[in-house]
Amino acid sequence: MNVQFVLLPGDGIGPEIVSQARRVLEAVADKFSHSFHFQEHLIGGCAIDATGDPLPEATLDACKKSDAVLLGAVGGPKWDDPSAKTRPEAGLLRIRKELQLFANLRPITPFPELLDASPLKPEILRGTDILFFRELTGGIYFGPSSCEDLPGGGQRAQSTMVYETYEVERIFRLAAEAARNRRGKLTMVDKANVLEASRLWRRVCGQLVQQEYSDLEYEVVLVDAMAMHLISRPASFDVVVTSNMFGDILTDEASMLPGSLGMLPSASLGESGPGLYEPIHGSAPDIAGKGIANPLATILASAMMLRHSCQMPDEADCIEQAVKRTLAAGARTADIAKPNEQAYGTVEITDSVLTAL
Ligand code: IPM
Ligand code: MG
Repeated sequence: MNVQFVLLPGDGIGPEIVSQARRVLEAVADKFSHSFHFQEHLIGGCAIDATGDPLPEATLDACKKSDAVLLGAVGGPKWDDPSAKTRPEAGLLRIRKELQLFANLRPITPFPELLDASPLKPEILRGTDILFFRELTGGIYFGPSSCEDLPGGGQRAQSTMVYETYEVERIFRLAAEAARNRRGKLTMVDKANVLEASRLWRRVCGQLVQQEYSDLEYEVVLVDAMAMHLISRPASFDVVVTSNMFGDILTDEASMLPGSLGMLPSASLGESGPGLYEPIHGSAPDIAGKGIANPLATILASAMMLRHSCQMPDEADCIEQAVKRTLAAGARTADIAKPNEQAYGTVEITDSVLTAL
């Protein structure tokens, strides 16, 4: 098979980890006799430096024409000035919107080999396997916002959470179908005791359950309570569906369950067109360029990419198994190593994955 990938390394550790994922993809192409083509483009802070725009037209065009996009990370202290004209993150939000990637899948599956890398007790963690569906192109991230100077001094700023029925329906359906293919449990997280937008979610989702998904074990949980339950009983969740901002916050919290943000991939999908795949961690400017970043989340994101955008489940399994074998053999980057353990570098641990492959 002939596949066209766009790579968006971005900022910070982005280039280091994306180049390692590319090595793995090239090895998979060899092994399965595919022809993978790669085009690299700018996004984020490096794109602002080069063109003034965090998502240059050339990047967006190339993404739209591709089969799938693999992104590293964007942002860093260099572009953090709150009064700057634009920010690296704006590029990420725009690409999500432009490619209509309304569903962000974030699997939280602790590796048994890494149980003691987690701050939680192994007996609480055991059996945890959660798939988050975060709504990605609506809500408070994209609602009307403004900031005005007040006559008496000071300012007033607002950000608005807006949802329409169809936006809730389409993400909920994807989550419900996924739950059917997993353990049949679906949790919807909102703040319906306070927010009108959440009450819409609750009505729309409740109705869909009644009409189409009554076979599922369905529960609704308030977002503040969910923050607590994720820590106290993570193994009791299967598929979780929620709005953009709640999903952003809860998945960072959940990412601590497996012990390191450095292990978690994510997929952003639309109704059709290319998907966008990325690690859920950020650009980690503090360790950029040192060769110690953990590339496994990005390597696992490429496995998701092969599975969801290229219909290559065997190839995806093959990468995931290679990562598992690498961990089982004791290879650890600094973020997941025990204090007295010798840590592998970014390239070294990828070498182990390639050997396992
Ligand atoms: C994420 C990130 C982004 C978000 C930032 C970088 C804009 O935190 O993908 O979770 O808030 O969506
Ligand atoms: Mg986030």
